Order: sequence, then C-alpha cells, then structure tokens
Amino acid sequence: MDNRPIGFFDSGIGGLTCIPTLQKVLPNEKVVYYGDTARTPYGSKAIDTIRRFSYQISDYLVSHDVKMIVIACNTISATCLDALRRRHPQIPIIGVIEPIANRISREESGGVEIGVIGTKATVASGVYANIITGRNKEVKLFSRACPAFVPLIEEGIIDNEIMDLTIKYYLDDFIKNNSLKKLVLGCTHFPFLKQNINRLYPELELLNPSSEVINEVKRILEENDMLAEPSHREHLCFASDLSENFQTMIDNVFEDNREVKVQFKKFEE
Ligand code: DGL
Repeated sequence: MDNRPIGFFDSGIGGLTCIPTLQKVLPNEKVVYYGDTARTPYGSKAIDTIRRFSYQISDYLVSHDVKMIVIACNTISATCLDALRRRHPQIPIIGVIEPIANRISREESGGVEIGVIGTKATVASGVYANIITGRNKEVKLFSRACPAFVPLIEEGIIDNEIMDLTIKYYLDDFIKNNSLKKLVLGCTHFPFLKQNINRLYPELELLNPSSEVINEVKRILEENDMLAEPSHREHLCFASDLSENFQTMIDNVFEDNREVKVQFKKFEE
C-alpha cells in the first residue's frame, strides 16, 4: 500500500481528461495536478523551453511527495520523457504516448490507415511513428499538427461553429486524402473535441491515449504494491492562471468537486 498522491501535469487543462478514467479504474487514488495555464500552449515552443518548464513542474510535484508522475501531455512526453526520468529516478514516470503506441503496434493488422493529430512539437518528434511503424510495418500512419485547437480549448471555445470550422480546416483533406479509418487524439486537450469530431466524421474511430495511460498506471501500482487505500484526503489542483475555464473543467472532470482544493502556483521565469 502507498497512500501518497499521484502527480499529473500538463500545459493547461488537457491533462484533466485523464481524471474520469482514473476515478473509474482507481477510485482510491488521490491526485496532485498542475496545469500551466499561464504559459500554455507548449506545442509551438522550443524544446529547451518545454524542458525548463517541465523541470519546474516535476520538481514541484516531487516536493508534494507524489509516488508517481503521469506526464498528461503528449508534447512533454514526446520531448522530455527521458530527461524527466533521469531527473527523478526515485519514482516511476509515465508518458502518455508509449502505452497507446504500444497497443496499436501490437493489435493493428491488415494495412489499416491511422491518423495521429497533435501539436507541432509532438508531430515533429516523430515519436508515434517511431514506436508504431518501427514495430509494425503493416500500419499506415499519417500525422497532422493542429496547433490552433489548444488555444481555443483553453478559452472554452468548443461547442460552436468556430471550433467546427477549425476542425474541418485541419481534418477534411487529411482524412479524405489518406482514407483514414482511425484517428489518435495525440494531445490530451483533444478529447474535449470528441463530440465535434464524432458528429463531423461519424465513420471515424477515435483512439484516446488517456484511457490507455491509466491502465498502465494501474499495472505499475499493482506490480509494486503501491495502490492507495480509501481515504478522505483532498485532491490538489494547481494552475499558473486560475481562469474560470480551469475551475469549470475541474468541476466537470472530478466526480465530487468538494473533494478538490484548487490553488494558484506560478514559477519565476
Ligand atoms: N495537452 C498538451 C498535449 O497533449 C497540449 C500541448 C500544448 O500546450 O500545446 O500535447
């Protein structure tokens, strides 16, 4: 047993999309979440900058005595996973890309066409392609950076025409020209667009890495006898800008928002 919390972090609200699955699969686990809402988006920034921000946040999570860190951001997972594992060798650090990419490379066969959408940094890293097609030559993988999605989602512009037009701008030709059957939501912000994408492209199957990463968390906690017992401890959520949208998303993703304490935390540049 290990009743310490699990640290999650993202450039903003995207990593919160992991929370509903966590609460379903591992209801006793407590969370310390950090969303860098003042400095989002990360996906178009230089890798050195992303790494510097990630060190500040992961050090802060470790100072809260977390038993494990989940990098609930594809951009940081794609660019900083190894560096973060070297910086904090005492705890397991899980990126959001490996679990889903491993599953796809294991399970897909028959030359299926799969698309990956993500930030510029995630797509430029080639990490999805390296893992998936590096292990399974049958998968036809196509990638597309969609950098305008994250700022719109952080502003809460989701369920409307502006978002639908932006989705069509990025995806209409991408899906048609490559005959895509499946689409990996390769940014933890993108599950917020699930309903829009399902409505616009009803034939397309969406793959959400957040669900897969929670299965990996469960596996590691079980293997190391680190599962938490039931407790009345609070979840802690920090943001570098306490926007109304951050609070709204917290209210939406946690089953009971009375168990969540929200606080402001900003780092010196
Ligand atoms: N949620 C982050 C990801 O998964 C968003 C990146 C960004 O801030 O641009 O990539």
